[in-house]
Amino acid sequence: MSADASPRAPRYTVAITGASGALYAVRTVAALLEQGCELDLVISDYGRRLLVDELGTEATLDRLMPYLERKYGDGVGRGRYDVISNRDLGATIASGSRPTRGMVIVPCSMKSLAGVANGLSRNLVERAADVMLKERKPLVIVPRETPMSLPQLRNMVRCAEAGAVVLPAMPGFYHLPKTLDDLADFLAGKILSALGVDQRLCADWTGRVER
Ligand SMILES: Cc1cc2nc3c(=O)[nH]c(=O)nc-3n(C[C@H](O)[C@H](O)[C@H](O)COP(=O)(O)O)c2cc1C
Repeated sequence: MSADASPRAPRYTVAITGASGALYAVRTVAALLEQGCELDLVISDYGRRLLVDELGTEATLDRLMPYLERKYGDGVGRGRYDVISNRDLGATIASGSRPTRGMVIVPCSMKSLAGVANGLSRNLVERAADVMLKERKPLVIVPRETPMSLPQLRNMVRCAEAGAVVLPAMPGFYHLPKTLDDLADFLAGKILSALGVDQRLCADWTGRVER
């Protein structure tokens, strides 16, 4: 973990929950770090499991920064992150006084989606998301499930009505991706744009497919 980020660096919360799509999560974290952001990182128990299940034992939380540096390069050292326990409901980000600019839940399980949609605050992911909504700050939710039940669809509507951006893990193919990393870049770029952070991962649409 780098310690030399500016004290005035923009701060965001990134939550990783137990839905498939760990690659989206690490790409998003890396992209925010590359932009010099400071992150409060909260990972649910199943989020930790999915990191290892889908990315391997090199991607455990303890080894996350070296993993990001190996995969995405030294640029991630422009930012820094603090890991906060999902059980700590007294953590900084449980309060609206934390100068956080926004939050993303990537990927977001249907369980966490339900918790946010219904304001349950059963853990820090749900509480921090609730704080974003009450403070009218950007909350980006990246749900992953297919097909979806009516309660799941209704929970997405509830979140959107409360002010969240519902940004499903649905990468486009019009940029002609060749690798899984291309797909993750696309989605991470969309997430950064939704948070209002500069990004060059997802090119602007020019009006035609660029070969
Ligand atoms: C390998 C694996 C893949 C999973 N994929 C999904 C998924 O894509 N979407 C989902 O909503 N839940 C998925 N789950 C189930 C959630 O992990 C489970 O509901 C969990 O309780 C979510 O808790 P959390 O939101 O606190 O992480 C998956 C579980 C495992 C073990």
